[in-house]
Amino acid sequence: MKKIEAIIRPEKLPIVKAALEESGYPGMTITEVRGHGVQKGIKQQWRGREFIVEFLPKVKLEVVVSSDEDVDRILGLIKDNAATGEIGDGKVFIIDISDAMRVRTGERGASVI
Ligand SMILES: Nc1ncnc2c1ncn2[C@@H]1O[C@H](COP(=O)(O)OP(=O)(O)OP(=O)(O)O)[C@@H](O)[C@H]1O
Ligand SMILES: [Mg+2]
Repeated sequence: MKKIEAIIRPEKLPIVKAALEESGYPGMTITEVRGHGVQKGIKQQWRGREFIVEFLPKVKLEVVVSSDEDVDRILGLIKDNAATGEIGDGKVFIIDISDAMRVRTGERGASVI
């Protein structure tokens, strides 16, 4: 099992969510986060003065899947639906998951996904 942890633009969440659900990935976790990448935030102007917004709002989308093929499909869906081509489109991290449990039944392993 793998976890896909994608940091994306908040406005792209609805289309990414729809693409995941349509492709057979109904389970996901969403967190509103703030962060920055290599540009370390952005410069903004306010009343003629320049200041840096250090941490920009992003959405963290977590999806746990059973196979490497699922990882590849979801990376494709995220690229197709969340990319604008501009800086700040986000980043995706892939994490190994050792086990899982459905709380209602106590079942374990990849079948709970
Ligand atoms: N190395 C990192 N570790 C943890 N989170 C990161 C890392 N890099 C980026 N992020 C998260 O991803 C969000 C989006 O990053 P961003 O898309 O700006 O990455 P980037 O590497 O600067 O690429 P780009 O040049 O396209 O902007 C950040 O706001 C931050 O939350
Ligand atoms: Mg950046």
